[in-house]
Amino acid sequence: MSDTSSPSLQQRIRSLRQQIETHDQLYYRQNQPEVSDTEYDRLKREYATLLEQSGENPQLDPLLQRVGDDRSRGFETWVHREPMGSLENSYSKQEILQFFQRLEKRLSRGELVYVVQPKIDGLAISLTYEKGRFVRAVTRGNGTEGDDVTRNVTRIDGLPKMLEGGSVPDLLEIRGEVFISREEFARINAERREKGLTLYANPRNLAAGTLKLLDASIVAQRKLELRVYGLGACEPAQWKSLSAFTSQLKDWGCFTVEFTQSVSGIDAVWDAIETFAERKLELGYETDGVVIKLDDLDLQREAGSTAKAPRWAIAYKFAAERAITRLHRIDLQVGRTGAVTPVANLEPVLLAGTTVSRATLHNADEIARKDIREGDWVEVEKAGEIIPQVVGVLLERREQGSQPYAFPSECPACGGPLARLADEVVLRCQNAACPPQVSRRVEHFVSKHCLDIDSFGTAVVEQLMRADRLHTLDEIYRLDRDFLLGLERFGEKSADNLIQAIEASKQQPLWRLIHGLGILHVGAAASKALARAFGSLHQLANATLEQLQEVEGIGAIIADSICDFFADADNRALIDRLQELGLNTEENTSTDGAATRKLEGKTVVLTGTLPDFSRDAFTALIEQHGGKVASSVSKKTDLVVAGESAGSKLTKALELGIEVLDQQGLLDRLEV
Ligand code: IVH
Repeated sequence: MSDTSSPSLQQRIRSLRQQIETHDQLYYRQNQPEVSDTEYDRLKREYATLLEQSGENPQLDPLLQRVGDDRSRGFETWVHREPMGSLENSYSKQEILQFFQRLEKRLSRGELVYVVQPKIDGLAISLTYEKGRFVRAVTRGNGTEGDDVTRNVTRIDGLPKMLEGGSVPDLLEIRGEVFISREEFARINAERREKGLTLYANPRNLAAGTLKLLDASIVAQRKLELRVYGLGACEPAQWKSLSAFTSQLKDWGCFTVEFTQSVSGIDAVWDAIETFAERKLELGYETDGVVIKLDDLDLQREAGSTAKAPRWAIAYKFAAERAITRLHRIDLQVGRTGAVTPVANLEPVLLAGTTVSRATLHNADEIARKDIREGDWVEVEKAGEIIPQVVGVLLERREQGSQPYAFPSECPACGGPLARLADEVVLRCQNAACPPQVSRRVEHFVSKHCLDIDSFGTAVVEQLMRADRLHTLDEIYRLDRDFLLGLERFGEKSADNLIQAIEASKQQPLWRLIHGLGILHVGAAASKALARAFGSLHQLANATLEQLQEVEGIGAIIADSICDFFADADNRALIDRLQELGLNTEENTSTDGAATRKLEGKTVVLTGTLPDFSRDAFTALIEQHGGKVASSVSKKTDLVVAGESAGSKLTKALELGIEVLDQQGLLDRLEV
């Protein structure tokens, strides 16, 4: 060991090596990065500089050569005909100029033509076509071989299965990027938030997770997108330039990258970059810079590649926007499943165009790793639309006497013990009666994804919590009209409507009740599968671990969680009480005796917005009473229920002389 020269230098190198390895693992294997790309590149640059200072050649260091590895279990691997490299990064006009000069020198040429193109923050994919027919989609993997994700990629719109017209090579590898738009990311995370599931950190992780799903039916529910931008193997060779190949791709109907330009000279390239930087939000997806590539394919070949990246291309990365501010306090939020999440309460600061006063601190381990303390000056970062995060502490501005943050071992809301489940980083409050957990649990239960009690909003939950009338889910069904009338903002009509909506929810299908119980990891899809497989809540509650795992889509983690839930005496008592209160605990009880058959054989059409019911809930109510809901008015329609802003269906009903009622009119008729 040469640590006689500088033990601290060697120590720092070792620590950087460890950090880079950890982040590689998190990014490439687990799709769960904890630092931004800028921060990661900064670590690598510092590592390279320190290696040089210690007399080692950074170019020979395996960690700096590595392309990363995205291969995961459960996939067949394929070797790429042409390897899939990574890109060198640059952060200034000066660095781009140096890249041009290096290339011109190597190729003994003057000014060259470059393609400047947005760098999509997704996952690289190689699409193989044989005689024009799409045969396979493979991830980058380790650059040499990747995972076969054909089944999932086939579901993407804009992937031609056949290349027709022009001259189609015998073998062609088209390179591109798979990603998920900001809108789709927001939609999926909102859905997950409602279900109490962990959220994806950013669209890239969501795309990575989706591309690697083994269940293609879930892939179908998430809109993966694709843009193509490059050429791998091509036999026989056909094109002279990247721009010629790009026009051919467009002619074949492939989606190419928007805002692509061909330019030459550093000033024109820089102009193209600045123009794109101003317009990047016009794209509905995340980009983290631009890629500048030599247009001429022969010259690309001549320039060649290093072990890691081609010499003919470079990425220019936009720095994530950062700001410095004071962290006043660390707040702890308790979720439905008891997860305690630390959130930084910040002095408001302007960041990427919005004022930020809160930032995520992820979990207790993260706070400890970064040694973040209350009162610290911190650097916050916001990349794209993603929740801001605290990247680090300005130690030089730390006040004397400041104390490391001690994550409590008790729940900040109820004082109950916190525990860490196996394989989890989050700490969870173990007290099922913890007030914020109860609130979130009730909100979930009544939400449109579960029992769908439309007029039971967050404000009502808070009111009932304050009145000490909500501790367990069955208490929802014990609310009475007189009690509601005693609450602020409740009038006769709203009290009646809420009671009716609660009553109607008892007839919801079994899967909604299972979902509503809020069993950890059990979402809507799993609830449907469980309802179908076991037929009743009672059977489900008594199922063994093995029986649960036999159900399609139920793995070991979900099965464990279900067993734990029903092993709890309080939960068993709860489901007994729900059953006694008349909730539907059986699959397929459409001819349930509780409802009248007043609409037997009748066809009903709903139009406009009903004041207190969602369309689904009202449809369920009509069906419970023997009616059928149709979407358009015809002579066969028996009844139209019209809400606010009813349009042409109401006009038509009146023309045809069909009976029209409002919400209350139908409820009166059904005597509910
Ligand atoms: S060209 C040899 N063009 O960036 C690699 N890459 O950091 C040549 N990427 O693995 C790649 N948008 O996944 C190219 N317009 C674009 C790109 C792009 C995103 C990704 C690609 C690559 C990574 C390298």
